[in-house]
Amino acid sequence: MSYGSAALVPRRVSSPAEAREVVEVEGAALVSGIASEEAAMEFGRAMLGDDLVRIGRQIEATRANAEAEGAIVDAQPADERGRKREVSRDTTLPMPPHNDGFAFGDEAPDRLFLLQARPAADGGENFLIDGLALVDLLPAALAEFVRTVPIDHSEPGIPQGAVHPILRTTPAGLPQVRHHPFLAPVSDDDWPAVRAWLDAVVSARDTGTRFRMEAGEMAIVDNYRVFHGRHGYADPNRLLYSIWGWTTSAVAVPRRVLDIVHAGQPVG
Ligand SMILES: [Fe+2]
Repeated sequence: MSYGSAALVPRRVSSPAEAREVVEVEGAALVSGIASEEAAMEFGRAMLGDDLVRIGRQIEATRANAEAEGAIVDAQPADERGRKREVSRDTTLPMPPHNDGFAFGDEAPDRLFLLQARPAADGGENFLIDGLALVDLLPAALAEFVRTVPIDHSEPGIPQGAVHPILRTTPAGLPQVRHHPFLAPVSDDDWPAVRAWLDAVVSARDTGTRFRMEAGEMAIVDNYRVFHGRHGYADPNRLLYSIWGWTTSAVAVPRRVLDIVHAGQPVG
């Protein structure tokens, strides 16, 4: 079974209103001519209007930052299940597909803006995977597991205090499907099903269509439905900004800036 057909190449849009509609229906859209991080946030505000609760800069993705943040996370201890946090320290490897903010559970943003300020000279192609489309491609028993069996969505050392199916319906009535490399079952008997889901998502990345964003292009993503990432690159000048937005449909909206690198660690 090839899961590559769940890969999503975002359709180009030209206005905030069109972006809103295309993201709602198709899960992602692509816009060009975004000159700065502030312009990206301005586009997001125009797109989401009165439904916007919070928007803010989150990640400045460069090779140097990946290496520096990777070193901090590598020094953090394993959790009580022996799971160890890691971030994509080696940028020459493809990133695990993920929803941004997965460490924060219900506080993850429902809208994501990925602004390519400077593409890599070589490599670093982007990928998006439509999680809902992928669930529809799964064998029936695995799709049933994904829809019904609660699992642990926490990142090692950052407990969430609740378990949910991989695909759930939010209080606002919207589907939310999640993937990151640290998903774990509640019961060890369910490891084969969880691993099958992890493998299906990575297979979709490795067999699906990828796309290249040029300088000033921005992917706008339904972060509850679509997993994202990039393939490997080495160019030290590549720069991508990740901006997080929360709407009135988000499960929970944080009242602070979320710190991915130090999440779960004692303050001080
Ligand atoms: Fe990300």
